[in-house]
Amino acid sequence: MKIAISGKGGVGKTTLCALLAKEAASQGKRVFAVDADPNPTLALALGFPEEITPLVELQELMEERLGSLEGFLRLNPKVDDIPERFAYEKDGIKLLVMGPIRQGGGGCACPQNTFLKSLLQHLVLERDELILLDFEAGLEPLGRATAQGVDALLIVVEPDGGSIVTARRICILAQQLGIKRIFAVANKIREPGELRAIEENLEFSVIGALPYSEALRVAGPTALSDREIRHQVQTILESVQQPSVI
Ligand SMILES: Nc1ncnc2c1ncn2[C@@H]1O[C@H](COP(=O)(O)OP(=O)(O)O)[C@@H](O)[C@H]1O
Ligand SMILES: [Mg+2]
Repeated sequence: MKIAISGKGGVGKTTLCALLAKEAASQGKRVFAVDADPNPTLALALGFPEEITPLVELQELMEERLGSLEGFLRLNPKVDDIPERFAYEKDGIKLLVMGPIRQGGGGCACPQNTFLKSLLQHLVLERDELILLDFEAGLEPLGRATAQGVDALLIVVEPDGGSIVTARRICILAQQLGIKRIFAVANKIREPGELRAIEENLEFSVIGALPYSEALRVAGPTALSDREIRHQVQTILESVQQPSVI
């Protein structure tokens, strides 16, 4: 099962990704979390102690796989050994941090993009764990082939107009890419009216709602010990994995 998570900046994508990863791991599932946000914070949310150098910043690896970054570019870099060699592991969760892609001297960010696209495609199409992809709002660098291997997209929304508008845009983009199952997860809900307003303003279903929680804000996903939060996270994980929920 491959689940991608997107939404406006700050809505709680990384928090949700980490909560789902921890819950799934606690159920004995093999979990592979991928931080594909150019501003990676998933390691922190998951409580990884190490400083993790993002893959695209491993210059030697990039050159080895892509050829010289300035000159001739390999379009199909070898990536199938990357998950085993470069993933960090903690409490049953493997983590890969992709990192930010900067434009090169010629104004092109192509080489590292090629690497990331190939790696995402490999992860989504050829691995059999529960893969959780923490994306930025634009769903970059998810190409069509990879998008079609994604089983579900969760768009995180909080009670403000901006995140709802962004969610609608992401939904259209995702449909164009060929993702078939698209759901919203409401976050930072303080009262039932906020959830209703979100539901009324989206054309796709809201499969879960996390309350605004000081524990989540301060302690992050360790707040899974909170019963209400855990219950919601379990519901989201179950619903998203049910093929019948369309
Ligand atoms: N349900 C919640 N209640 C309170 N604070 C939250 C909740 N979810 C996320 N946050 C806080 O909101 C901020 C942004 O969350 P984050 O998961 O990093 O968002 P994103 O990955 O979408 O940018 C963080 O400080 C996080 O602790
Ligand atoms: Mg994030």
